[in-house]
Amino acid sequence: MLRILSGIQPSGVLHIGNYFGMMRPAIALQDEGETFYFIADYHALTSLRDPQALRENSQRVALDFLACGLDPERGALFMQSDVPQVTELAWILSTVAPMGLLERAHSYKDKLARGMTSSVGLFSYPVLMAADILIYDSDIVPVGKDQKQHIEITRDLAGKMNEAFCAQIFKLPEPRIQPATETVPGIDGQKMSKSYGNTIDIFGEEKETRKRVMSIVTDSTSVEAPKDPARSTIIQLYSLFASKSELEEMHERFRKGGSGYGDFKKQLFEKLWEYFGPMRKRRQEILGDKSYIENVLTRGAERANSVADQVMKRVRAAVGLR
Ligand code: ADP
Ligand code: TRP
Repeated sequence: MLRILSGIQPSGVLHIGNYFGMMRPAIALQDEGETFYFIADYHALTSLRDPQALRENSQRVALDFLACGLDPERGALFMQSDVPQVTELAWILSTVAPMGLLERAHSYKDKLARGMTSSVGLFSYPVLMAADILIYDSDIVPVGKDQKQHIEITRDLAGKMNEAFCAQIFKLPEPRIQPATETVPGIDGQKMSKSYGNTIDIFGEEKETRKRVMSIVTDSTSVEAPKDPARSTIIQLYSLFASKSELEEMHERFRKGGSGYGDFKKQLFEKLWEYFGPMRKRRQEILGDKSYIENVLTRGAERANSVADQVMKRVRAAVGLR
């Protein structure tokens, strides 16, 4: 049976880029194999130094993921830090990880460029991520495009371990990236990201969500003039929610002129709000059951630990740690 794994950092509130890039594909993959999905709280420590916020965000990510349709009966949902063996594996992997490989990682360079202070943790972030993936013998890793290089690094490190210890310790995982939703744009047209302040949250308040949609950046074409659908963030976001014919109709109205961007944004908001309606309802139900999330995470951690323990036994034996 295929083993499918992915993680999401509780460094903020989940947005529709997370949903279409990673969460929806991850939920759909529950039909194809055994799934392990976790909340990457160790990783979040590289950017978040507020214990209360880390705890709250982690709970909220669990809640939101479940509300979006993750079925805890069919796979494990757990906290990364409930499997602390993963940090041991990260250490072992770091001893075969070439400095140059990590120095080439885009996400590290991007984070420094955005003003984050460098730390050893931030630098070796991909090694911990490789440990996350390899410790469950994962076959497939559903992620957005920005994580592709991290999966390549994981494959490199798995290969290096196998070579260094002349043993088939790890299998090489494959990324699973959805071309249509690999990079969802934010309200400024750049990649939507928690750290760019350009998000539309999955479970934002109605008023705030409307405000975010209405502030999508557009050019200054007048109401009467025809507009170019090909370069519009509104169209790109609308395509996530609308049917083919609805999308075609909006394209047509763009080209015809006579409608302002404000009208299109309203239409986008209505679709978006309707799309997440059933999930908002499910979220309320979960919130009404105090122990539900805790039980899900406890069961998930048990399942994850049993696999991680087996793999670590194999790794320790292979490298001589026993
Ligand atoms: P953020 O950039 O907001 O901090 P994360 O790095 O926590 O998001 O990403 C969690 C998952 O969501 C990853 O698999 C990532 O590839 C995916 N993802 C994040 N933003 C987008 C986006 N704008 N489009 C598509 N996928 C995304
Ligand atoms: N780095 C990922 C992100 O920011 C989160 C993550 C941590 C992850 N470990 C992982 C994703 C393992 C997939 C597999 O989105």
